[in-house]
Amino acid sequence: MSEESRVTFYPWEKVVDVAPDTTLLDAAEREGGMSIESLCGGEGMCGTCKVIVDEGEENLTEPSTADTQILSEDQLERGYRLSCRARVQGGGDVTVTVPPDSQNTGGIVLTEGEELEFDIDPAVKKYHVKYPTPTLHDNVADLERIEQALADNYDLDIAAVDYEVQRELPNDMREREVEDHLEATATVYEGRELIDLQPGYEETAYGLAVDIGTTTVAVYLVDLKTGETEAISSILNPQSTQGGDIMSRMRYARRNDDGREELKREIREGVNECIDEVVREAGIDREDIYEGVFVGNTAMHHLFLGIEPDYVAGSPYIAAREAPIEVKARELGIDINPSGYVYWLPVSGGWVGPDKVSVLLVAGHYDEPETTVCIDIGTNGEISVGNEDEMLVTSAPAGPALEGAEISHGVRAQAGAIERLTIDPATLEPTYETIEGDAPNGLCGSGVIDALAELFATGIVDQRGKFRDDLEHPRLRENADGEDEFVLVWAEDAAIEDDIVVTQNDIRSVQMAKAAIQAGTRVLMEELDIEDPDRVLLAGAFGNYIEKTSAMTIGLYPDMGLDEVVSLGNAAGVGAKLVLLDRNQRPETERIIDEVAYYEIAGTDIFQEKFMESMYLPHKDFDLYPHVEARVEDRRADATRAAQKGSDD
Ligand code: FES
Repeated sequence: MSEESRVTFYPWEKVVDVAPDTTLLDAAEREGGMSIESLCGGEGMCGTCKVIVDEGEENLTEPSTADTQILSEDQLERGYRLSCRARVQGGGDVTVTVPPDSQNTGGIVLTEGEELEFDIDPAVKKYHVKYPTPTLHDNVADLERIEQALADNYDLDIAAVDYEVQRELPNDMREREVEDHLEATATVYEGRELIDLQPGYEETAYGLAVDIGTTTVAVYLVDLKTGETEAISSILNPQSTQGGDIMSRMRYARRNDDGREELKREIREGVNECIDEVVREAGIDREDIYEGVFVGNTAMHHLFLGIEPDYVAGSPYIAAREAPIEVKARELGIDINPSGYVYWLPVSGGWVGPDKVSVLLVAGHYDEPETTVCIDIGTNGEISVGNEDEMLVTSAPAGPALEGAEISHGVRAQAGAIERLTIDPATLEPTYETIEGDAPNGLCGSGVIDALAELFATGIVDQRGKFRDDLEHPRLRENADGEDEFVLVWAEDAAIEDDIVVTQNDIRSVQMAKAAIQAGTRVLMEELDIEDPDRVLLAGAFGNYIEKTSAMTIGLYPDMGLDEVVSLGNAAGVGAKLVLLDRNQRPETERIIDEVAYYEIAGTDIFQEKFMESMYLPHKDFDLYPHVEARVEDRRADATRAAQKGSDD
């Protein structure tokens, strides 16, 4: 039998002993405190899992085809390897360094969204009841005695009792006796089911609002009496190890026997981890949490609930259910009061899931006269267009490029990521800001959008997104693969060993992502005969971070005054909180499903046509973007003036 290999990972200085044939990525995951980016789930497609082999190259398999396709010759020479492809062999030791852009250090999650006014009327309520002590002459059974007290005092018609509550009910209802009567606190769900009975008087009740994003999971602990958010916890979605985007996870579920089960387990464990944290932080008893209201896209909905996701993954994109669903927390293994409930908002259709329904609820634009475009920018862009007369919603497959993935120097929104970037139109020298002011290690989503907008506004790339042939500048060069690229940060100023660049292929990826959202929007606008919408609402963490001018410059949303472009913050999470605290919002979400029609754009000719037009910056028809045209002209005029002044001096 062959021996184990010892792998040492820097900068963490952690040592792992692994069996032959283990990938370096798996080896890293085995030891706590180390995490390597793996956006494609170890499929050898994304290039995010790079490591540099310091010693023991001979104890690894030869570079794979994926290595030679994704890594540059220079990187291969310097010992770079894809950790998901490199397997240990022969029992010898290996030492590797994980470069900063491949270290998964956790992301910044926006957990504060729009604050709204609403009534506090949760589905879970506590009722203090007094009832006579049973005697030989008053021999009504225990449950019926409690039900009678709830009917007499609160006009409640209890139709069901949780089985676990029933088991201990005879004890709990007799524990507190005052003079000739007993007293207890009944917790009732939706006015119809007894889900807890506590001796004496109790008033503490909490709920959770849970937003399961493809990339991040956020859990808010909310006091059901005051409406206050007592604690917030967020983590990267643990399913990310099976792929950064939904399709990779769907593939994983399909190709592996236990894939669906594994993804279900991972996300539920992740949610429980967040629950542990909010319980700890708020110093409460988890038994006092009686409900979790969940939102997420259709894939997250299906994967969390363990529902077969295959049919929604491919044409004709049929979701397993549209209606909201409520399931006992104990059935799903969610660590709150086991008799409590998990409630998922309804699915709109296809990929448009409860998260978008939640955004619609918060935005409320389906009930307003202004024509609105509301975009939730994510791996899938969810778009709604229209007004109170008619509104359509769709989902556009943007892919992860707008979030900084699958581009040469894309990184998550983590310390050192370039989040703002401008290019001087006269000198073409970039200026940038990074998260937490650290030395730059790559570009996160907002940096990617700024970079493309600035390259276009300063004339370094043309309307087709191509680097200009006639421009000579030390930052514009051809790389080892014969591809044009622009250097944003020289290696000596960066936290990584390479220059941070934007390549022609990167630009193409970003163009494709923005074109999907823009085309989806324009299909809906055309369908509803809308030429100039009144306003744009941007939902999601990303909408908060992007520079509005840059996003409009590349054509991500229709041209308009910037005052008409409003960020809603994490509207999906806020909507979940709203539904948790005000049960009247539940039928409202179902009304949204009826009022806002789902429009499938995937595979349609009209989408293809709009997509091709949207590949241009900001659009094939520049006249549709007068504000952008004026801005670009201004920037280029500044450059001409500066050049003129330089030659005069
Ligand atoms: S290429 Fe290795 S995880 Fe994507």
